[in-house]
Amino acid sequence: MLKCVVNGSNKLYGDVRVQGSKNASLPILAAAILCEGETVIHNIPDITDIGIMLNLLRELGCKVTEEGKSVIINSMELNCMYVRDELVAQMRSSIIILGALLSRGQDVKISYPGGCSIGLRPIDLHLKALKKLGADIREENGYIFCKATRLKGADISLDFPSVGATENIILASATAEGTCVIRNAAKEPEIIDLQGYLNACGARVSGAGTDTVTVTGVPKLRCSEYTIMADRIAAGTYMAACHMTGGDVFLRGVTREGIGAIYDTMLAAGADMREQRDGLRISSDGRVKPIDKLTTMPYPGFPTDMQPQISTMLCVADGVSIVKETIFENRFRHIVQLLKMGADITTEGNTAIIKGVSHLYGARVYAEDLRAGAALIIAALRAEGQSEIYGVNYILRGYDDIDGTLRALGADIKIVENIKEERASV
Ligand code: UD1
Repeated sequence: MLKCVVNGSNKLYGDVRVQGSKNASLPILAAAILCEGETVIHNIPDITDIGIMLNLLRELGCKVTEEGKSVIINSMELNCMYVRDELVAQMRSSIIILGALLSRGQDVKISYPGGCSIGLRPIDLHLKALKKLGADIREENGYIFCKATRLKGADISLDFPSVGATENIILASATAEGTCVIRNAAKEPEIIDLQGYLNACGARVSGAGTDTVTVTGVPKLRCSEYTIMADRIAAGTYMAACHMTGGDVFLRGVTREGIGAIYDTMLAAGADMREQRDGLRISSDGRVKPIDKLTTMPYPGFPTDMQPQISTMLCVADGVSIVKETIFENRFRHIVQLLKMGADITTEGNTAIIKGVSHLYGARVYAEDLRAGAALIIAALRAEGQSEIYGVNYILRGYDDIDGTLRALGADIKIVENIKEERASV
C-alpha cells in the first residue's frame, strides 16, 4: 500500500508541462482498434487507467508497444470479443470499447459495469443508442451480449449529454452504413479530440464541441499519428493547488478556451490568471475569495471532475461558498476527510456549504476516489504540519507523477510504500 506524505505551507513556483488528457486518451485508444495497421498516439499519460486500457487492447489481440509517452497499436490481429469482468470492474470506462468493437463488425460480450464509488453510472443511454444503430443487444446474468449485424446510421437524441454515450455512438458509427446524427451530444473538449483523431484516420465526423455531432460512415479507417490534448482537469488541479498555497505557476500546453469554466472560476476566486504563449500563468497571494454559488454541469458548465479540488480550495476562502454537485450522486467523499483537517463544511443533499477558515492542519486522511484524492493532496499542501494521505492508488489512476510535478514546484511531498500498514493488513 502506498501513502502520500506532505509537509504543508510551501508556496508553489515554476513550470508544469501538463500531462496528456486521461479522458481523451481512453476513447482514442479504443478508436485505434478501428484502424487497420499501426497507429501511433503521442502524449499518453502514464497513469493506471491507461495501463488498464492497454491491457484490454492486448487481451483483444492488439499488438501494443509503449515508447515513453507514445503508444503504437496494431489491431490487425484483433481476435477476442470478450472483455474480461476484472477489466470492467477495474475501470468503468472500459464500456467505451463496445462501440469500437461493434464497428469492427464483431459479436461482443462484456460484463455490466454497474455503479462505482462516485455514483450509479448506468449505461442505458449507450445501449439504447447502439440498438438504434442496429446492434442486437441482450442483457443476461450481468453480461451484455451484442450481436453486430452491419450497423446503420440513425438519428439519435440523447436524454442527457453523456460523454461516454456520445463517444460510444461516434465509435460505433464511424464505419457504419450511412449517416448518424447525435443530438444533445456531450460538448466536452475530449469529444473534439476524438473527432480529431478519427478524422486524421479518414473518418467523417463533424460538429464535435456542439450539441449536434454528425458521423458519416466510411468503409474503413487508415492508420495515423496523433497527439492527445492536455488534461484540463490535471491543469485545474495544479491551479487550485497554486491558488490555495500562493505562488506563481506556468501551465504549459493549456489554453483559456480549453479549460473554459475552470479559468473563470479561478478568476472569480481571486487568482490572477493570464493567457500567455504556450500556456496559462496563475499567480496568487494565497488569498481565496468565496464563490456564492458553483454548480457542476455538462460542458461548458463547471466540470464535476474539478468539484472536489475547488471545494477544497474554497475551504480557506474569506467567506461562505455554496457548491452544488448535479452530475454524480456520491462526489462529496472528500468532505469528511477535510473536516479532520479543520475545514468547516456542511452538506444538504447535493449541496455543500463551505465556510472559509484561516488555517487547515495536517492529518491522516483517506482518498476514496480519484478526484477526492487530488483534493486531499492540495488541502495538505496548504495545511500546517504533516499530512498522510492513503488511497494513493486512486490518485495514480488519473495523475501522471503528481508528487514529482508538485515537488518540482517546491512542495514537500512524496509517495512512499507504507510498510507498517502493509504488515498490519496481512
Ligand atoms: C465521463 C468522464 C468522467 C466525468 C464525466 C462527466 C471519461 C473516461 N470519464 O464519464 O471523468 O466525470 O464524463 O463529465 O471520460 N448517465 C446515465 N446513463 C448513461 C450514461 C450516463 O444516466 O447511459 C448519467 C451518469 O450516471 C451521470 C451523468 O449521466 O450522472 C454523466 O455521465 P457521463 O457523461 O456518461 O460520464 P462518463 O462518460 O461515465
